[in-house]
Amino acid sequence: MSTSTAGLAEHLSRFQAAYDELKAQGLKLDLTRGKPAADQLALSDALLSLPGPARFTDAAGTDLRNYGGALGLPALREIFSELLGVPVPQLLALGNSSLTLMHDVATFAMLHGVPGSERPWGREETVSFLAPVPGYDRHFAITEALGIRMIPVPMNDDGPDVDAVRAALETDPTIKGIWCVPVYSNPTGAVYSREVAEALVSLPAADDFRIFWDNAYAVHHLTDWRPEPIDILQLAADAGNPDRVFVFASTSKITYPGAGVAFFGSSPDNVAWYTRWAAFQSIGPDKINQLRHVQLLTDAAGVLAHMEQHRALIAPKFASVQEVFGRRLAPHGVGSWTDPKGGYFVTLYVTPGVARRAIQLAAEAGIAITPAGSTHPYLDDPDDAVIRIAPTFPTVDDLTLGLEGFCTALLLAEAERAAA
Ligand SMILES: Cc1ncc(COP(=O)(O)O)c(C=O)c1O
Repeated sequence: MSTSTAGLAEHLSRFQAAYDELKAQGLKLDLTRGKPAADQLALSDALLSLPGPARFTDAAGTDLRNYGGALGLPALREIFSELLGVPVPQLLALGNSSLTLMHDVATFAMLHGVPGSERPWGREETVSFLAPVPGYDRHFAITEALGIRMIPVPMNDDGPDVDAVRAALETDPTIKGIWCVPVYSNPTGAVYSREVAEALVSLPAADDFRIFWDNAYAVHHLTDWRPEPIDILQLAADAGNPDRVFVFASTSKITYPGAGVAFFGSSPDNVAWYTRWAAFQSIGPDKINQLRHVQLLTDAAGVLAHMEQHRALIAPKFASVQEVFGRRLAPHGVGSWTDPKGGYFVTLYVTPGVARRAIQLAAEAGIAITPAGSTHPYLDDPDDAVIRIAPTFPTVDDLTLGLEGFCTALLLAEAERAAA
């Protein structure tokens, strides 16, 4: 049976009855958490017994138990240099969180400026960032916390809308940065094209304009397809803007979130700038944890093999999202959703004005979905139409049950809207 959206109102009483039945089941399911499930974490449990007794030196014989080594363990930087396309001397292996690095880098920029700044960003009357939407809530939270104004720009299937970025940069000199997740973007799964990357590094902008290139999902594939590698630092150098890009990444969703290793990569001048200010903060990163990671992952091929094991565990969950939405929503013409080839999220677009209500109905039936608005700056989706689905954490059975219930709630919300 196929229903046009306009015909949804006729089904209101049927959808209401289905929803009442759902509510009576007293479910308690949480589909909000974009984090690895326990079976994924178990893939890295060898970390718990590494580096092993009396194994605390690197290839050069340095005692990793001690202070020092501010740039991180060379062997680990080599592994991720290959995977991230950043030359080893320009890639630092640091603490346990890339978000911390993004926060620090933005804070250093506010306090001190970056190479090319006339003054610290914080001494400008207004500092603005472009925020591709839908995007990652924690990126937006960093800029909001630092008092940086955010300007939404639309996110397309191949990256941020370049015309919108160009128009904003041409008219607004307060723009100092843009948030980017170039591979399997959070939350749409979009992969940036080379053309978009080239435009971002070459568009006219302030000398201290920076691209926060958060390559969090560089190796997090769900299919055999592989994104075209984009050497963003080289592209920026070729465009005459060698200092425009800050690269971030981490092993959070490779090994243990919170107990992994984060990376910062950039031009030689930016790396010198970062290490200068970071030296006031730390006498060196946790090199024992970095050694553990070298031992677990071995080399770039070892990381990719490890990620195949993640894929085997989570690809069925992403398939379940496609199956349930296709079976429950498509026949009613309700919603459209992404089918990502990697990363951690699916984005569902519903009729404007329906997202919040659908999530509320789901919550009242015991199914927690990420709050509407969390994909937008200031938690404000002006269309109230974007919903982020995080399939990885629940078991496949709980996920499927939760999605079925959520579809029941969404169909009711859509029918209410159509009937209004
Ligand atoms: C795009 C993106 N960047 C960064 C992070 C968090 O990274 P970390 O654990 O290294 O701070 C996440 C986690 O969901 C993410 O989706």
